[in-house]
Amino acid sequence: MQKAAIKKVVIPVAGLGTRSLPFTKVVPKELVPVLSTPTIHFIVEEVVAAGIEQVIFVTSSGKTALEDYFDVNHALVRTLRERGKEDLAACVEKTSQLCEVISVRQKEPLGLGHAVLCAAPVIGGEPFAVALGDEIFPPWDPKAPQSPLAVLAEQASKTAASVIGVMKVPRERTASYGIVDVGAAEVGTTPVPVKATVEKPRPEKAPSEYAIVGRYAFGPEILDCLKSIKPGIGGEIQLTDAMSALAAEGSLYASAVQGCRYDMGSLLGYVSAQIDAGLREPSIAGPLKDYLRTLL
Ligand code: G1P
Repeated sequence: MQKAAIKKVVIPVAGLGTRSLPFTKVVPKELVPVLSTPTIHFIVEEVVAAGIEQVIFVTSSGKTALEDYFDVNHALVRTLRERGKEDLAACVEKTSQLCEVISVRQKEPLGLGHAVLCAAPVIGGEPFAVALGDEIFPPWDPKAPQSPLAVLAEQASKTAASVIGVMKVPRERTASYGIVDVGAAEVGTTPVPVKATVEKPRPEKAPSEYAIVGRYAFGPEILDCLKSIKPGIGGEIQLTDAMSALAAEGSLYASAVQGCRYDMGSLLGYVSAQIDAGLREPSIAGPLKDYLRTLL
């Protein structure tokens, strides 16, 4: 029997954004823009493209700008209309019509797994997705005609199990990611059973080079696993440890995410995304190309 389609996504946004300080002292890292579109906007558009209707932000103090971004701003829209700026008014209005947003608070920074558990009362007993708030998979990439979440949600429904997105990384980078143990299997676009998951292993300890990239389609069983695990690396409740428990039950699969990924919390990811988007933006592409040539 197939599982019900995923209708909810948890987006943990309570983090301090230490990689992007001092900017994140006052602005949530999820609002870092690519040109004029915030990171979180790309993620929510990916969510919506996957047919998911409800976004659950797991927030903390100082993050209300994220909720405001997806709320209506009547005064701004009215002023723009009065000034004849209909395009901009429509653009602002669109952000409040994208999805239904529900916020829950994570009162202590006890880890990604703990953040997901904070959303449990809103998730209920349904399958759900998780999307991490600092990674984007740009919608313009021709190698990824479908959004990663749409693919994972569909695969989770077909396999009646949890499916997580992975990408191959150089072995020296494994300590920055959760890594999956898939035995000798190659992970392609067909989901492969996962034997275990390890959070941020050193290269010599990593069971593979397949890194978990912040897109997950879970069955509700993951919440039971999260409730039963002990704090892991860094003293935090790790989502990766709960996934390992799920893998031990034979209920976790990995699937390769296609296309380009930008980690907006890293300097290289942030700058690369701006250049990529800039070269695709007709109003600046020509002069930007010329400028880049002068630099190189
Ligand atoms: C988190 C997860 C990790 C995952 C990574 C993807 O780590 O804990 O398993 O591979 O996101 O970006 P973080 O980057 O928040 O330390």
